[in-house]
Amino acid sequence: MKQSCIRMILAPLAIAAAVFMLSGCTKVQEQRIIRIGHNQSTNHPSHIGLRAFQEYIHSKLGDQYVVEIYPSELLGSQTDMVQLTQTGAIDFCIASNSILETFSKNYSIFNLPYLFSSQEAYHAAMDDPEVTDPIFESTVDAGFTSVAWLDAGTRNFYTINKPIYRPEDLKGLKIRVQQSPTNIEMMRLLGGSATPMGFGEVYTSLQSGIIDGAENNELALRDNGHGDICKYYSYDMHQMIPDLLIGNNVFLNELSPEEREIFEEGFELLNRVQREAWTEGVEDSVNNAKQNQGVEFIFPDTEPFRIAVLPLHTSVLSDIPEIQAVYDKIQEYNLKESSGADMEGV
Ligand code: GCU
Repeated sequence: MKQSCIRMILAPLAIAAAVFMLSGCTKVQEQRIIRIGHNQSTNHPSHIGLRAFQEYIHSKLGDQYVVEIYPSELLGSQTDMVQLTQTGAIDFCIASNSILETFSKNYSIFNLPYLFSSQEAYHAAMDDPEVTDPIFESTVDAGFTSVAWLDAGTRNFYTINKPIYRPEDLKGLKIRVQQSPTNIEMMRLLGGSATPMGFGEVYTSLQSGIIDGAENNELALRDNGHGDICKYYSYDMHQMIPDLLIGNNVFLNELSPEEREIFEEGFELLNRVQREAWTEGVEDSVNNAKQNQGVEFIFPDTEPFRIAVLPLHTSVLSDIPEIQAVYDKIQEYNLKESSGADMEGV
């Protein structure tokens, strides 16, 4: 009697709990999970920017969407992640512009060495849709579109034990480059031996001596430990290659106009937060490399490097005439920003 009483009291409670749990499950199922992959650590400015994007979408559309971020190549290399984004297996990933030229040749333009004459010209050009739209929209047939650009600083050479002061110093050295025809040709023109490989393989390749050095921004010294192995970092400033957030087209096209607007605001926030965190990240990486990793920073004359690789501009433009207008627009920014810099000095 006592037991049946307890059952009578507990049964409705159990049903209520089950209904509550089921309704909870249904709610989770109704939310669309958005998966974003990238290949950097959680300290990196791009991860910090993505966290801001995640929070923004949560605050505006949290009942419909949950953003999940997968850092550190958890979903594979950048090339793997681009392919996952193409098919819609994931919705977004961050890819270096470098590897995108194999998906649409228009992207080659931002891989050209010494394309931008200053950081100001680079930022101003990348903020101009007249420059970016013809490139970012050129992968529509490939299933994805670039929706935001992210700063990836300036790429410079760094080596295990031979400092680079001039292009001739690269002769005979095996230098890791990103998997892009433009980068391979750049290394050929500079006289080094290009060893293309994914970012995640660079540390062990340096460690085992498969390569003699690599080229990247300063964050690779700190976040990827390259400064533990490479003791010379030479500011030859050969490229300013943006990273791009790319999104699956089916996903983007299925958003309602109101949702798309919120996502666009989120992309702008990502860009802003990432760029702010970038400056701090570079400063911290340089200090860390000097104080804790024993890296020596070298400031060579950049002109011999620039002259050696300039033929690439002519060959890429004659192969891809459709990007000429974008190239010309970038030259306008180069002129404008450098005359602005001169004025400041007056
Ligand atoms: C930079 C860039 C990455 C890229 C890497 C590389 O770190 O931000 O997107 O993958 O260079 O050299 O592969």
